[in-house]
Amino acid sequence: MWATLLLQRVVVTYSNAMARIIVTAPQLMSVVNEELPGHEIVGGDHFMDRQELADHIATADALLTSLSDPLDAEMIGKAAKLKVIGQCAAGFNNIDLGAAKQAGVVVTATPGVLHETTADLAFTLLLEVTRRTGEAERWVRAGKAWRYDHTFMLGAGLQGATLGIIGLGQIGEAMARRGAAFGMNVIYNARHQKNVAAIDAVNPNTQPTRRVDLDELLAASDVVSLHCPLTEETRHIIDENALNAMKKTAYLVNTARGACVDEAALVKALKTGLIAGAGLDVFEDEPTITEDLLTMENVVLLPHIGSAALPTREAMSRLAARNIAKVLSGEPAETPVE
Ligand code: DGY
Repeated sequence: MWATLLLQRVVVTYSNAMARIIVTAPQLMSVVNEELPGHEIVGGDHFMDRQELADHIATADALLTSLSDPLDAEMIGKAAKLKVIGQCAAGFNNIDLGAAKQAGVVVTATPGVLHETTADLAFTLLLEVTRRTGEAERWVRAGKAWRYDHTFMLGAGLQGATLGIIGLGQIGEAMARRGAAFGMNVIYNARHQKNVAAIDAVNPNTQPTRRVDLDELLAASDVVSLHCPLTEETRHIIDENALNAMKKTAYLVNTARGACVDEAALVKALKTGLIAGAGLDVFEDEPTITEDLLTMENVVLLPHIGSAALPTREAMSRLAARNIAKVLSGEPAETPVE
């Protein structure tokens, strides 16, 4: 009995101990501080480079991280007492999960709070590129002549068009519902059959949502939208062959990860008219963007702002911080990466 009591005491003492939490990138610190009272919190006002991260990781109990942090095996190997990596993003392709597991570090992410906002932005890109709003706005701002003209700035229509979703997770499903609301028929490619009831319930005039193989999706879609995680399987899932397989009138939307698309092949496809246009929020070598894209009228470019609505970013910060608090106090994380 004494042994049990002693053990309980040790656990309670540990759970209340002040931990050293490193915040690796700019954060909504009022939210983070609220969720992690009584701990030593370092950073949160700038991006830590590799060296600074390496200097801190050795003494950290927890990291609150961003999607560009290089948490590879070498970096994780420097940790001496790290218990949890609280990634403040849905994606976690910057973290070597195997190395974290081996080091006994719990990895968490923030799904469930950003999918509607990110789908809003993906659909914004879809509308912008198909209706040429960037090009039209640049025209007006440049002071070029215009008047109402039946034949001017004609874009693509959405009613009855086919939206091909690659990766029907939370964000893909939210994008599909938006497509259905605009009268688009949805097809998707995913490793498993998904429950599509919520998509089909949106609009009585659209066709039932169907799972198809990648070749059919590429050949049949008027808009292809990427919502898959970046893995070895999905790296360059849109390559030269995929772009060749798309309709010449089709558009590509990417709010997933830049490296899901072979950017050089995309540039070539846009230049040669293999596809009609692209709406991109993510890039292969962020924040660098292939120069040619900057001058193309049929491309909409955004600086990775998929989830950048204040309430969403607050919810992400809160969830990332809560995950850290839970793991530090010996409880299971709310949204562990498994
Ligand atoms: C994510 O959470 O993975 C997004 O890319 C952030 O907007």
